[in-house]
Amino acid sequence: MRTGIRRKFFLTITMVYVIGVTACSVSKDVQQKHSLKNAFQHDFLIGTALDSSQIVESNKKVDLLIKKQFNAITAENVMKTAIIHPKADRYNFSLADKFVAYGKKHNMYLVGHTLIWHSQLAPFVEKIASPEALRAFMTAHIKTIAGRYAGSINAWDVVNEALNEDGSFRNSVFYQKLGENYLTESFRIAQQAAPAAELYYNDYNIEQPAKRAGCIQLIKKIQSAGLRIDGVGIQGHWLSGKVPLEAIEQSILEYSALGIQVAITELDLEMLPRNFQGADLEHKMKTDSTQNPYTKGLPENKEQQLAKDYEDLFRLFLKHKDKISRVTFWGVEDGQSWLNNWPMPGRTNYPLLFDRKLKPKAAYFRLLDLKN
Ligand code: G3I
Repeated sequence: MRTGIRRKFFLTITMVYVIGVTACSVSKDVQQKHSLKNAFQHDFLIGTALDSSQIVESNKKVDLLIKKQFNAITAENVMKTAIIHPKADRYNFSLADKFVAYGKKHNMYLVGHTLIWHSQLAPFVEKIASPEALRAFMTAHIKTIAGRYAGSINAWDVVNEALNEDGSFRNSVFYQKLGENYLTESFRIAQQAAPAAELYYNDYNIEQPAKRAGCIQLIKKIQSAGLRIDGVGIQGHWLSGKVPLEAIEQSILEYSALGIQVAITELDLEMLPRNFQGADLEHKMKTDSTQNPYTKGLPENKEQQLAKDYEDLFRLFLKHKDKISRVTFWGVEDGQSWLNNWPMPGRTNYPLLFDRKLKPKAAYFRLLDLKN
């Protein structure tokens, strides 16, 4: 190569390199800056549910994403009775302790989920025969767990999913043996065990009129017993393309009028065929590969629908930000979601803001755009 040509060649290579490095650091810089928790820091907390592998920080990339994007965490499973209280006389705090330590280390708002729920019970609870013995279990369970984390856990889902779709009480083991009073008892014990924690009732479909009316009665029942209830958690397991925005807005207004906070506690959007809304684990669909249509990726029109749904929801949440304490997604990335296995096992679902490679989706950028 002649000297002049060589010089030109090196000059071009250097320029390409400099432009490349600058572009790279710009995009890295943008990536560093944008974050959900920062974007909505003056509005409400932005949370996620952590599974056990995330609690033990087994994947560095996921861990970085969690710390960058979220300022609140909920235990997806590790505080459920079957795990934390597997035998009448045995507790297993190992993962719950790690969850709490993780949140404290990163200065996150910690949500304990959940003290009294009919599902994921340890087998011994189902076998408890007398009302007295069940009451004794509830007392020991709530006192021990809420007491252990008093001063650490910021909010408890004290009772989870106590209602049927028509707003009546679910016929759970607690209801069968103790009647409606199990609800007030749970809040009474939680309040004594963890006086500084915010106490929530948490359920799905409680934006729907009949269940909402039942939920309002339930909240009033706690209040009129002279007990503290700080908030209601609308779980938010909705269907993409069919998000019930009007019912959600009406619910935010009606719950807030009771003098309590509203949190969206388990947000995700179903992207696969399903003709019913909610999160009743008993409600299952038969395995059928035609009902799992997007194994190779979500079509663009569906991706855009998801983005629009999330944007519409967050516009509404921002409109009522004075009433909303927190918006928590039910998982960090699509691969983690429970919706890959319910109501049908083994589907490939896309309900969250980050894909399986941890890449933010169009929906994520639409949410950030709301704040720009
Ligand atoms: O950990 C065991 C594993 O050892 C075993 O090999 C495997 C075989 O099935 O099961 C694993 O446990 C599963 C657990 O998730 C952890 O992955 C349970 O079977 C499975 O039932 C459990 O599902 C959880 C479900 O609640 C029931 O507790 C989901 O992850 C969790 O996202 C879901 O969360 C609920 C909320 O708590 C309440 N609101 C509705 C929401 C969605 O259902």
